[in-house]
Amino acid sequence: MQSRRLTLGIETSCDETSVAVVEDGRRVLSNVIHSQVDLHRGFGGVVPELAARDHLERLPHLLDLALEGAGAKPADLDLIAVTRGPGLAGCLLVGVGVGEGLAAAWSRPLTGVNHLWGHIYAAMLTRPDLEPPLLGLVVSGAHSDLVRMPEHGRFEVIGRTRDDAAGEAFDKAARMLGLGYPGGPALDRLARTGDARRQPLPQPSLKGLEYSFSGLKTALLYRLRDLGESVSPQDKADLAAAFERSVVESLLEKLDAALSDSPYPEVVVSGGVAANTLLRKRAAEVVGNRARLTMPPLELCTDNAAMIASAGYYAARVLGRQASTVDPSLGW
Ligand code: KG4
Ligand code: ZN
Repeated sequence: MQSRRLTLGIETSCDETSVAVVEDGRRVLSNVIHSQVDLHRGFGGVVPELAARDHLERLPHLLDLALEGAGAKPADLDLIAVTRGPGLAGCLLVGVGVGEGLAAAWSRPLTGVNHLWGHIYAAMLTRPDLEPPLLGLVVSGAHSDLVRMPEHGRFEVIGRTRDDAAGEAFDKAARMLGLGYPGGPALDRLARTGDARRQPLPQPSLKGLEYSFSGLKTALLYRLRDLGESVSPQDKADLAAAFERSVVESLLEKLDAALSDSPYPEVVVSGGVAANTLLRKRAAEVVGNRARLTMPPLELCTDNAAMIASAGYYAARVLGRQASTVDPSLGW
């Protein structure tokens, strides 16, 4: 029997510090995540310098917890996989610096990982039998990307946003509605108590597979301005529901079009916004029986190191180990 291959994953691209141990790129042995929401809440958004410093302070302890949780020692690790981008420069530097330090101290190989690939590989952790080819929709704080994945380690972007990412749009709408940070989950909760039909907002519609959410954002701003002082808590809930519906239907309209253009056996919807209640429900309806849909569980949708370990394992296997140079604007 072949021995198990363990990958240590490190993720520090934004406001989650995470360390994980994954077996054979598929089985999560440990996935320790520290969210910095409490640190940034008072500022209404992520403060990059504070985020980077906090990653540095917390990594050593999280590393101990991840190894302990997996019952693994440094000598058991076959690979160290660290996010090299996209993300906040200072935050990425902390993760890569620690990864390089550990690789040198423990004489273990290191590979840099594309965070976006990680969001797709979160689905591989969810379903151990899942293999490309697949159609992916990655919706996060900075991306709304439709991608084709013909095989491991290869991605082709077929659609993206012209302006705001879906998560960014949710965060900004949440701020307008006075919901604070983190906006997406708060808007999701409020939307559950609202009715989109009472405060309908336009659904963005661009030709092709492109997204745009800036017009929708402006529509919300004007509606709130018109309502002025008279805006009631119920109005806000209805607006949250309407905004959520417009974003979700727009995301799925393009997914539907891509699926109609060419058949895919598998569809993956992931990234932080894939934690959204309505998106999870509607994605299943829209995909229907045309393909098998995988949406990772919530803890694998938002940023985590297990998905980085999985992506790093496969990328190293099919492409060789990747450079760990930090690239804040790394694309697919
Ligand atoms: O993937 P992620 O954790 O970090 C990035 O790589 O950006 O995604 C974070 C984004 C944020 O914009 C957050 O507001 C959004 O995902 N988000 C949600 C929900 N949970 C997280 N948006 C809508 N509904 C949610 N339940
Ligand atoms: Zn992410």
